[in-house]
Amino acid sequence: MASSLSQTVFFSILLLLSLHQACAKKTHLHFYFHEILSGPNATVMTVVNPSNNTNSFTFGAIAVIDDMLQEGLDDNSTLIGRAQGLVGAVGRDGSLETMLNFVFTEGKYNGSTLAIYGRVVLGVTIERPVIGGTGMFRMATGYSLAKPVVASATKLVYEFDVYVWHKEMKDN
Ligand SMILES: *[C@@H]1O[C@H](CO)[C@@H](O)[C@H](O)[C@H]1NC(C)=O
Ligand SMILES: *[C@@H]1O[C@H](CO)[C@@H](O)[C@H](O)[C@H]1NC(C)=O
Ligand SMILES: *[C@@H]1O[C@H](CO)[C@@H](O)[C@H](O)[C@H]1NC(C)=O
Ligand SMILES: *[C@@H]1O[C@H](CO)[C@@H](O)[C@H](O)[C@H]1NC(C)=O
Repeated sequence: MASSLSQTVFFSILLLLSLHQACAKKTHLHFYFHEILSGPNATVMTVVNPSNNTNSFTFGAIAVIDDMLQEGLDDNSTLIGRAQGLVGAVGRDGSLETMLNFVFTEGKYNGSTLAIYGRVVLGVTIERPVIGGTGMFRMATGYSLAKPVVASATKLVYEFDVYVWHKEMKDN
């Protein structure tokens, strides 16, 4: 008797879990992340630099970014949003910590955001968790992959693929 009750509870939980997955929408986003390193239109600003060398971003340094999310690699390609947040040099090995909001400003995702958080090792493909979202991306969970495609003295560009599971709701 007790075992058939626990089996019923077990299968009810499985059913609820699969219903939850069926209700979550999977979205793949592809875009380019453009960062201007210096000049009047710089999109990154170092706010703490414990080193005497202002060109180095070493252990203890903190920066804020307001980078462009664009459809293409070209400087002139359509702006679809901004990546705003904090970058900290938290690793003596050169690794960084990032706390970012991706704020979309175009099309169906206009006004929606994704919270992307995680560790960065420069120069290789960066994998970071998507830890939440707002608007169309409420209840978001997933991951982002960022591949470096331009690394010059003045500019960094990353190609992003973001895979998100989320509820698709805008109202209430
Ligand atoms: C900075 O941005 C403004 C406005 O988009 C543009 O007119 C100007 O040429 C840019 N300056 C540089 C140095 O890229
Ligand atoms: C920065 O320079 C000052 C003065 O030369 C020196 O006393 C200090 O140790 C330096 N700090 C670092 C982190 O190198
Ligand atoms: C971007 O647009 C500016 C002004 O219209 C133009 O001078 C420049 O060549 C364009 N850049 C590219 C890479 O197409
Ligand atoms: C995005 O939404 C804002 C606020 O509702 C609106 O002002 C803006 O025109 C929209 N942009 C686009 C490209 O639809």
